[in-house]
Amino acid sequence: SRRYSITLLAGDGIGPEVISVAKNALQLAGSLEGIEFGFKEMPVGGAALDLTGVPLPEETLSAAKKSDAVLLGAIGGYKWDNNEKHLKPETGLLQLRAGLKVFANLRPASVLPQMFILCVYQIQLVDASTLKKEVAEGVDLMVVRELTGGIYFGKPRGFGSNENGEEIGFNTEVYATYEIDRIARIAFETAQKRRGKLCSVDKANVLEASMLWRKRVMAIASEYPDVELSHMYVDNAAMQLVRNPKQFDTIVTNNIFGDILSDEASMITGSIGMLPSASLGEAGPGLFEPIHGSAPDIAGQDKANPLATVLSAAMLLKYGLGEEKAAQRIETAVLDTLNRGFRTGDIYSESEGNKLVGCKEMGKELVKSIDPVVI
Ligand code: NAD
Ligand code: IPM
Ligand code: MN
Repeated sequence: SRRYSITLLAGDGIGPEVISVAKNALQLAGSLEGIEFGFKEMPVGGAALDLTGVPLPEETLSAAKKSDAVLLGAIGGYKWDNNEKHLKPETGLLQLRAGLKVFANLRPASVLPQMFILCVYQIQLVDASTLKKEVAEGVDLMVVRELTGGIYFGKPRGFGSNENGEEIGFNTEVYATYEIDRIARIAFETAQKRRGKLCSVDKANVLEASMLWRKRVMAIASEYPDVELSHMYVDNAAMQLVRNPKQFDTIVTNNIFGDILSDEASMITGSIGMLPSASLGEAGPGLFEPIHGSAPDIAGQDKANPLATVLSAAMLLKYGLGEEKAAQRIETAVLDTLNRGFRTGDIYSESEGNKLVGCKEMGKELVKSIDPVVI
């Protein structure tokens, strides 16, 4: 049987709640495909700060690097919000992404593989979208977010003072050619495997980093004549996403625009609690995490939707390990659980047959869907 080592980074807030559900799903779907997992749980974020004094202990990063894939819940919380920058949970997550060199973050805003399944899924969940049914139905887009560059990492950065002696905070949006070229190639290849349409989102009317971005994306486009490339300014893209999201297939954008647009895109499909992500580099293990945060407002109350993390586990199987069949077992089970009417609060609507459940119960139903024999 095939064996993989997985680093589990539960983190903070709802992180441990959703990771526990996703771990069970991985284990069960894996065992049905003859896969064995060795799980290693390590601290990250606020949990690591409390335990070790730093948000990404060396042991956590080295364990992550040594494993075949990394599954992360979420980090952050009120308790650490006023920490100095190097002692913030968020800094730990950024260090992890940089340490694993996972520059390509895939954030699909439609979760299921086959179109016919997607339709069923959409019919069921479209009620949870705040958009009109005819706008939200059938949306299937992928945000390819650059993850280890841009304003998140650019230098100079920091605090200082201006000529009036007033305190200032500053950051730098910077992209080098190689960083744009490699994310552009991933995006073109992603579009090739989808519907062949790529929209590059930037602010090239104002920002030099975006001007270079657009120039390089256009240059790389010559390697992919079969992909239809368009460009859009980010402010317009934010508007178009709610006006007519179906116009998009694959979107490629920088670190910060991708962060914002993917949260926006999540609401088209119903909830941020549904959106998974895969972060990949040139080599080494991938990092898989929901796009949502630690949701301190509902943490510890068994209210979190675990499906974003469960679907991240499916992406781990597919993109991280090449285990497509096990990934499909999870995706199909998510669909089945939703079709049987189980809903956490974030996707609940008073349609016939819908049942409001907590995180744990959603996990139990999911297990039944993966393997009806288990329970
Ligand atoms: P958030 O994503 O944690 O929560 C935003 C809203 O969505 C909240 O109302 C929350 O209850 C809801 N929500 C999020 N995930 C949900 C789920 N699985 N099920 C049901 N509802 C869900 O964003 P925030 O409130 O801006 O940030 C909270 C903390 O999380 C901050 O410390 C922030 O830095 C951190 N954060 C971490 C990550 C990460 O770990 N990758 C991502 C985003 C934010
Ligand atoms: C995300 C989060 C992170 C980001 C934060 C917590 C550093 O918002 O994963 O989307 O901005 O990338
Ligand atoms: Mn975010």
